[in-house]
Amino acid sequence: MVQPIHMATTFAQQGVGRHKGFEYGRTGNPTRNALEECLAALEAARHCLAFASGLGAETTLMLLLNPGDHVVYMEDVYGGTFRLFDKVLKRYGLEFTGIDATDLDVVERSITDRTRMLWLESPTNPLLRVVDIDAVSEIAHSRGAMVCVDNTFATPYLQQPLHLGADVVVHSATKYIGGHSDVVGGAIMTNNDDLERQLRFHQNAVGAVPSPFDCWLLLRGVKTLALRVERQSDNAMELATALTSNKTVKRVYYPGLDSNPQRGVAAKQMRMFGGMVSFEVADEATAFRTLERLKIFALAESLGAVESLAEHPARMTHASIPAAERQRSGVGDGLIRLSVGVEDVADLIADLEQALS
Ligand SMILES: Cc1ncc(COP(=O)(O)O)c(C=O)c1O
Repeated sequence: MVQPIHMATTFAQQGVGRHKGFEYGRTGNPTRNALEECLAALEAARHCLAFASGLGAETTLMLLLNPGDHVVYMEDVYGGTFRLFDKVLKRYGLEFTGIDATDLDVVERSITDRTRMLWLESPTNPLLRVVDIDAVSEIAHSRGAMVCVDNTFATPYLQQPLHLGADVVVHSATKYIGGHSDVVGGAIMTNNDDLERQLRFHQNAVGAVPSPFDCWLLLRGVKTLALRVERQSDNAMELATALTSNKTVKRVYYPGLDSNPQRGVAAKQMRMFGGMVSFEVADEATAFRTLERLKIFALAESLGAVESLAEHPARMTHASIPAAERQRSGVGDGLIRLSVGVEDVADLIADLEQALS
């Protein structure tokens, strides 16, 4: 019932070049294979490749592009993804344009003859905007570009981008897939056999592979993914609703709220609305005071685990995005992001209310 942790870094061969599927630990490992099969099944994908982190997965995928290629990305992507694009990959001749991909006219206009990829997150981090994956994929494909969706926030339980027309899915498995704040990991899923062959080559050539123990932890975490995400989504819905009537709160961002203009798209492509909620208070000082007063929510980066976390995107997860760019995309100094856990929702609401009072 439990996949063993195969620690071997090398495997005895039956003859030169004759082996039972494994030669060397970077190239392949039985525990990693089991994780890849499991994660492929979750995204209903033919292929999955596991990585040492979400960013390790993202970097490996982007190395399939060539200098001069153009990438269009949804503007409020995770700060580390922006940093990878802006500070690392630009130096290798890739070009990037950040857009509001919720506007399909903007998507259409941003694609050039050199655009190879559209990079989406939905819901986005930290403003939880929802991109119509099906509609964007149709536009991208008609112009010869592929679509990659970072499905970390939604999880494969709530949303399966490959069914919605995307070509590739990436995950920070560190978040909901692991689910217990104790393992860093990443994954790429695709149905495209040629892409899988190229990715497999690059996974081995670049080497950002997860340890067998990390693969085992992810396999254990995933067993309760559906239970956790259902509870987190229920809790988040109640909590977001409660925040809308709090006088200190200026605005609540949650795709499940009736007042959210993207609720319809979210309901079309997601099973539930997820465990992430963001909200705005007057200014940075109010945000800091609120965060410091919380007792059940821990003030910490990351998300997706069983325990509730709160953070300040402008100074924490999104600090690597220049202030002007951040403000333009709506990540202000009064913004607080919550990762809602599986605790009793009445306790969570009471905790936020006392911190905001
Ligand atoms: C949406 C999203 N994508 C990618 C990443 C990067 O993943 P990792 O931290 O596992 O490298 C993160 C990390 O916070 C994230 O939130």
